[in-house]
Amino acid sequence: MADQQGKTLVVVTGASRGLGKAIVVEIAKALSNSPAHKKTHFLLIGRDTDGMEQTWQEAQDGIAEDAQLTVAIHRCDLAGPLEDVGRAFDAILSSEWAVSGPFHQVYFIHNSANTGPLDSIRDISPAEIRTNLLFNIGSPFLLTSRLLRFVAPNDGAAPPRAKRLRIVNISSLAAKVAIPAFGLYCMGKAARDMLMLQVAAEEKGTTECDVKTLSYAPGPMRTAMTEPMFEGKCASESMIQSFRDMEKNNTLVDPYVSSRKMVRLLLEDKYEAGAHIDVFDEDTETNSQTPSN
Ligand SMILES: NC(=O)c1ccc[n+]([C@@H]2O[C@H](COP(=O)([O-])OP(=O)(O)OC[C@H]3O[C@@H](n4cnc5c(N)ncnc54)[C@H](OP(=O)(O)O)[C@@H]3O)[C@@H](O)[C@H]2O)c1
Repeated sequence: MADQQGKTLVVVTGASRGLGKAIVVEIAKALSNSPAHKKTHFLLIGRDTDGMEQTWQEAQDGIAEDAQLTVAIHRCDLAGPLEDVGRAFDAILSSEWAVSGPFHQVYFIHNSANTGPLDSIRDISPAEIRTNLLFNIGSPFLLTSRLLRFVAPNDGAAPPRAKRLRIVNISSLAAKVAIPAFGLYCMGKAARDMLMLQVAAEEKGTTECDVKTLSYAPGPMRTAMTEPMFEGKCASESMIQSFRDMEKNNTLVDPYVSSRKMVRLLLEDKYEAGAHIDVFDEDTETNSQTPSN
């Protein structure tokens, strides 16, 4: 159950395209129809501001007329040096809180990621390892750390700024299963799942802020991330074939359908803290469908 009073803050990283775009659209639609979330402020983070503007345009189309949804779009390269990312994120969070807050509940979606080189482990360079781990593991770790400190301080000096904090890591089957030529990606996704488990373990009952984490695996989708599979740019022929077969058999997941499932899970709030839930774990609606917005 959501807190019945106050404003909600929704933060989505990588909101310019693909799944991140669908997540913003589906959360906006769901919250605008939810009495507990009528007043919601969205904070979209990524590098492509035009793409994020387009995401927000699309989100406007599906929302209830009496909704009070606002947005702020921030350009931030989450693959930059961690010190810079940390400083930028601190500034974004505190300015948004001052200008558009306070917020009683916060949903933070770690969606930004890339696959890194689609090569076998033996062919990956030190620079590729460093860059990939920094972006896919370092930055979500750092943002989570800063978010917890800001929203739910536990040093006794100040009360929590919000009553509820929900952090979602966009995960993958790759967190659980080794996939040829996706070595860095699989390792990154497994690490991010562990980050969510770790937060669940560390934060349990430590402040008056109710903190809960979730890793959500959205299923295989045709987005910019998977385009190399259709272009044959992957060291694993079997993976290329697998994506082509999914496309042919119409078994790729529609990002909007997957996002709706994630939003439903979030709003029902029945998952166990730190859980890894896959789009295929529960019922219905997972095959390729056009968005309903
Ligand atoms: N596609 C699949 O089959 C699949 C399957 C399982 C899980 N996932 C997961 O779903 C999530 C979204 O992936 P997608 O398929 O939608 O991929 P995508 O279309 O490539 O989108 C990736 C997003 O990450 C952002 N991003 C990339 N580099 C960034 C950087 N340096 N700083 C900040 N943001 C950055 C991009 O935004 P900007 O360019 O604006 O920065 C973009 O919005 C990822 O976590 C992915 O691992 C995807």
